[in-house]
Order: sequence, then structure tokens, then C-alpha cells
Amino acid sequence: MSGRLSGFSKLTIQQRLSQLEELGFLQSQDALFLKNGGNIPSELGEKFIENMIGYFQMPLGVAPHFKIDGKDYLIPMAVEETSIIAAAAKTAKWINESGFIETQQIGTDIIGQIQISKVQDLNKLKKIVSENQKTWIQSANEIVAPGLVRRGGGVRSMKLRTLARPDGNTMGILHVYLDPVDAMGANIINQVCEFLKLKVEAETHENVTMCILSNLVDSRLTRSKIILEKISSDLIDKICEASLFAELDPYRAATNNKGVMNGIDPILVATGNDWRAVEAGVHSYAAKDGRYSSITKWWRDGNNLVGQFEAPLVVGTVGGVTRLHPMAQLSMRILGVENASQLSRIAAAVGLTQNLGALRALTTVGIIEGHMKLHIKNLSLASGATEVETPILYQKLEAFLCREKRISLQNAVDILNEIREERANHSKNSNEKCH
Ligand code: MEV
Repeated sequence: MSGRLSGFSKLTIQQRLSQLEELGFLQSQDALFLKNGGNIPSELGEKFIENMIGYFQMPLGVAPHFKIDGKDYLIPMAVEETSIIAAAAKTAKWINESGFIETQQIGTDIIGQIQISKVQDLNKLKKIVSENQKTWIQSANEIVAPGLVRRGGGVRSMKLRTLARPDGNTMGILHVYLDPVDAMGANIINQVCEFLKLKVEAETHENVTMCILSNLVDSRLTRSKIILEKISSDLIDKICEASLFAELDPYRAATNNKGVMNGIDPILVATGNDWRAVEAGVHSYAAKDGRYSSITKWWRDGNNLVGQFEAPLVVGTVGGVTRLHPMAQLSMRILGVENASQLSRIAAAVGLTQNLGALRALTTVGIIEGHMKLHIKNLSLASGATEVETPILYQKLEAFLCREKRISLQNAVDILNEIREERANHSKNSNEKCH
């Protein structure tokens, strides 16, 4: 697949759509929908939110060259940051040539919390929870989640946690573990917790203060691993150093993790998933050892470079916006995913790939070159260059960037003025010569 999409970025939008249709990534009605501008009726948005006044459109692109667990994928990404898709595609191609990506999901259950702010009698609470949890789980499955049970999921277990309060009392938190199968599960877990609240209060005579899911889903983790076999020893050392920096320093970890989310969020947006929930989960998991740290780790294994990402990436492929939004459905068709675990593992793979691309750039040529090369296109446009002037300006801006390692809109405007002066002088001289 990788080869068939080489040169994809050089095509026009219409040519890209035709090529994706030819290759079977887009169905003909999807290609037609995009060719016609991908407009969505406002009635749909009205179903999602209150006070809807229109749509905020985001560019949707695709990143080719991804092979994850031996399968080729074209990754739909909805994102506004110039260099993300280019970097993802470039790094995926490099991985294809020098190694591979593998993924796995660890655990299936999401977490709901039932909080008892001040426990009256901890021993009694522990005893009643342990004696009754089987019956509570059974009735929650029968009454609140029978559909989910039919699809192979449902409430699995409960656990009582305690926290010492500053006032000397004990806070009790009942964790409810539920397998949402292919749903993100927010609605169902919240319903289960509120249903169980009544039972807990009735049987324990404790006062339940609130019920809500937790986004720190350490019981359903997604892991991706990249192994690069054909890579210079010097580059392995550089990437390992960058990894250590992010592991030790929270200031660097924040930026490292933002770069990882550059690969993950655009997929979540494109597929209609709750990226805020995933962001919260990833960052809280990054602080699981008591200090905010890197969500990825890179190390040397003999002559190989190995990288790993592990975090909660709870996504859904059924229900909600994913089912209702035509662009989310279209993105799902491009991806060809069959279940939530697969979607989550793809997102983890792309996040780690994005991280590798950023670390390679940062430890070699620097970030400005790649970022700004793409930015030059925008600067040429913004400076007001004509169609004839654009290629000349583009070349001069590239040379300026190489030389100065910086570039701004003012530089583009100044260089454009120089080009115009040169052209004016040139035509004046040729006119003089003619006369
Ligand atoms: C920019 O969007 C992302 C990076 O800052 C990530 C990183 O520093 O690792 C380049």
C-alpha cells in the first residue's frame, strides 16, 4: 500500500480523492461527498449540542505508510497543525523500511467511582461490600446493562479503596469495573454507579456523596511498541538521551507528551471520539508514579532502538458521535477498524510514531526546519505572492530558512518585494536594450 501512495502529497485534492477511491480506501459516495465539500446539515449538530449556530471545520487529511501489527492502514487525521500529518507519514515510512510496530491491549474494564465522603463504620462497610458485591453486580447487569451483557460485556467486579482525609476521617471509594466492549462506556458506567448507589446506601447506611467514571483507566491500557533494526548507533544514543530528558524532567515531559498527543488526538477527532477524556487519562497515567513524566520510553536493545507507549486510550466504535457524524463514519471506513480495541491500538501506534518523528528531528536537524518548510507555503500565500511569483518566493524562503534558521511573514513580504524589484529592473533593462 505504501508504494501505491507515494507522491500522494503532490496531488491536488481532487486527484487524491480519485486515487483513494481507486485504491478502495474511499467508497464512491464518500469520495463524492468530499468532492462536494463534505457539508453537513445543521439539523445534525442541533442533536449534539445546545445553542448550535454552525460548524467549526477542521482539515481532514490522511497519513499513509502505516503498517501496524503487520496490517496496512491509511490514518485519517483531523488537525490544524501544519506539520503533523507530514511528520507522521515520513516517520511511518522510515519505520516500514527499518523495523515494525506492534500493539496490545492490556485489560478490558473501565472504572466507575462511588464516593462515600466520610465513612461512618469502615469495618462494617468492608464486610457488607464483600458479602453483597456479587448480588449487586448481578442486578446491575440484569437491570442496567442487559444489552451490554448480550454483546459480551457488563459489570465485572468491585473494589473498595480508602483515603485518609485531612480531618482524620476516612473517605471510601467503591470502584466498579465494567467491560464496555466497543463502546467508550461513559454513559453506561455512570448509570451503573447511580443504580448501585441506591443499593450501597440501603445496605450499608453510609451516605454516598457522588458517582462518576474515572478517566484514569489503568485497568484498560493500550500499549504500542516500535522496534527499529536498521538505525545508526549514534541516532539510537540521541533518541535514548531525549527519552531520559522527558523521563526525568516534567517540563520536558509535558512537551514530549504533547507531541505524542499530536498523533492521537487527530484520530480521535476524525472518528468522533472524546479526546478530552483520553487526554485526561493519558496525562494522569503519566503521573502514576507520583511525578509527571514521559508517557513514552525509548531504549537500546543491542543494535536496535525500542520505544514504548502505554496509557489508557479508551475509545468507542459504536454509539455517540462516532455513529452519527458522517465524517466520523467516513474516517472509520478509511481505517477499516472492526472494534474499539483495534482503534485504540492504532491511535497508540500513531502517537508513538509521532513521538519518534519529533525526537529524531529534535536531536538532529532541529524542529524548525521541518515545521517551517511547511509553514513557508502558508507564508507565500499570506505575503500576497501571485501564481508566477510563488515558486520563486518559495525557493528564496527555503534558502533564507536554511541560512538563518528562522523565518517570519515580514521576511516573506520583504523577499517578495525584492523579487518584484528585480523583475521590474529586469524588464526595464530588457526594454532599454530593445530600444
Ligand atoms: C510540537 O507540536 C510537538 C513537539 O514539541 C513535540 C516534542 O517536543 O517532542 C515537537
